[in-house]
Amino acid sequence: MSQNSLSRRRFLVNSILTTGGLLLAPNFISCTDDDTIFGIPDDYTPDNFAHGVASFDPAHNQVIIWTRYNTGKPQVKIYWQVAYDSLFESIFRSGEVITDHTRDYTLAIELQNLEADKKLYYRFFNQEDRSVSIVGETITLPIATDSIKLAVCSCSNYPAGLFNVYKAMANSDADIIVHLGDYIYEYGQGQYGTNEYTTSLDRAHEPANEILNLSEYRTRYKQYRSDKNLQLAHQKKPFICVWDDHEIANDTYKDGAENHQANEGNFNARKADAIKAYSEFLPLRSNDSSLIYRNFNIGNLVNLIMLDTRVIGRDKQLDYVNYIDATGNFNSTNFQTDWLNPTRTLLGTTQRNWLISQVTGSSAHWQVLGQQVLMGKMFIPAEMLLSLSAVVGGSPTALQQFQQTLTELVTIKLRYLNGDPTLTSAEIARITTVLPYNLDAWDGYPVERELLYSSFAGKKVVCLAGDTHNAWYTNLVANNSNEIGKEFATSSVTSPGLEYYLGIDASSITGFENAMQILIDDLNYVNASDRGYLTLTFTTNNVESKWNFVNTIFDENFSENTERVESYSI
Ligand SMILES: [Fe+2]
Repeated sequence: MSQNSLSRRRFLVNSILTTGGLLLAPNFISCTDDDTIFGIPDDYTPDNFAHGVASFDPAHNQVIIWTRYNTGKPQVKIYWQVAYDSLFESIFRSGEVITDHTRDYTLAIELQNLEADKKLYYRFFNQEDRSVSIVGETITLPIATDSIKLAVCSCSNYPAGLFNVYKAMANSDADIIVHLGDYIYEYGQGQYGTNEYTTSLDRAHEPANEILNLSEYRTRYKQYRSDKNLQLAHQKKPFICVWDDHEIANDTYKDGAENHQANEGNFNARKADAIKAYSEFLPLRSNDSSLIYRNFNIGNLVNLIMLDTRVIGRDKQLDYVNYIDATGNFNSTNFQTDWLNPTRTLLGTTQRNWLISQVTGSSAHWQVLGQQVLMGKMFIPAEMLLSLSAVVGGSPTALQQFQQTLTELVTIKLRYLNGDPTLTSAEIARITTVLPYNLDAWDGYPVERELLYSSFAGKKVVCLAGDTHNAWYTNLVANNSNEIGKEFATSSVTSPGLEYYLGIDASSITGFENAMQILIDDLNYVNASDRGYLTLTFTTNNVESKWNFVNTIFDENFSENTERVESYSI
């Protein structure tokens, strides 16, 4: 290597360090050396920064900062600054970037070579228009720590109600917000999520139709990001996100979705548009915007492994309807054959192998899976499943029948648990003939789940889940009865839960919840009717989990309470 090329390399390294940040590849337009400390004049307004600021994917030495500049000009030059104090008296990084219509005027800068364990403040401004953003707050992770607090959420459906849960998380003492997906919903106005408050709260979906192309997905993200409570959460905390299905369409799998029909165009084109919009509004540390699985080593205490159980590898969901013949008989042999097919996958081989090597090769105290769908076994008596599907059809007689069945099954199960010798074999069969209630969850992919369980031996495993709109606490138990860890599942920000599908009021829900806890062997706790989020405090030998709920999503004045606290120690 010549002296010249060495100098050239040194120059490049220095200029990157001085400039202070590398843009994420899709935004790599220009980035100049600008270390001027710039005071913002008082007459600058935040007008053109209508979607707030955000930060993503903190590591010990890097974090992504984001904003969107809302202007009619074809290109805009935005300056950014990062400081250790909120008054920007200690700016240590700054630079300028150009953004344009090719990324819908969003911009995401990956700050690198940062100091570990720091609180950072950042802002953006445009001198020409005299505009300045609000000040964002974020962190870098510690290299070693004995405590970290995560707030975990999922399923924020704009027309379903106000984002009070985001406000509660913004004001919590969590270090990081982990979003497990369904950050947006694809439906049009009047469809899923719409309720009697949608119009008066001015929360009808934009655009009015189901979103299918890039422009429509972008419009939807901009509507969600116009929400003040969501903006506050992004302003105050770094987010670590994965998508679930609704960022594309309901019940997505690797080459289709329940809510994608042939007359809606090519699924892969829709998926590519949805992923592009996602990467513009929720940037993450990845060289390929379609690959979102990645991990975060938080102070060698928590290895947070974010997964994609939706898009990259998922085989199409099974459906009980396909195993019921014209006379209403369930063909359990055919179902079992398909259900236990060893090639069935939720993750795909590449991601699964990566996950196993992550867990087995990590020296962190906790292996935490940040993923979408319930991993715990939710096996319910088969006759309950049948009467439940009738209830979801909406018949009041069916609800009555369901509640009657539930009471009988609970009575039998309690006698069974107490070793009642008078139980008949027919009664025992009623509670031991069980089926998984949700084939879209890990319950639909049992062989792959067992494979993971066996590879997790000797590790402290915690699984996080969203997707169901209800809160759960479940033991993760392998077929050989070994408990490999616990699952903490969060309720939704606004999407309706089981109370909505069952059509039962708050006074009856407790009985239903108690019945579920008795009938499902591995289930310790369920909340089936409240909207909220989860906080998890990890320390070396313990994780404390709090299920927090808001009392309303239909009024901006709300209160928050913690319904359940659990400690999981190893
Ligand atoms: Fe959802």
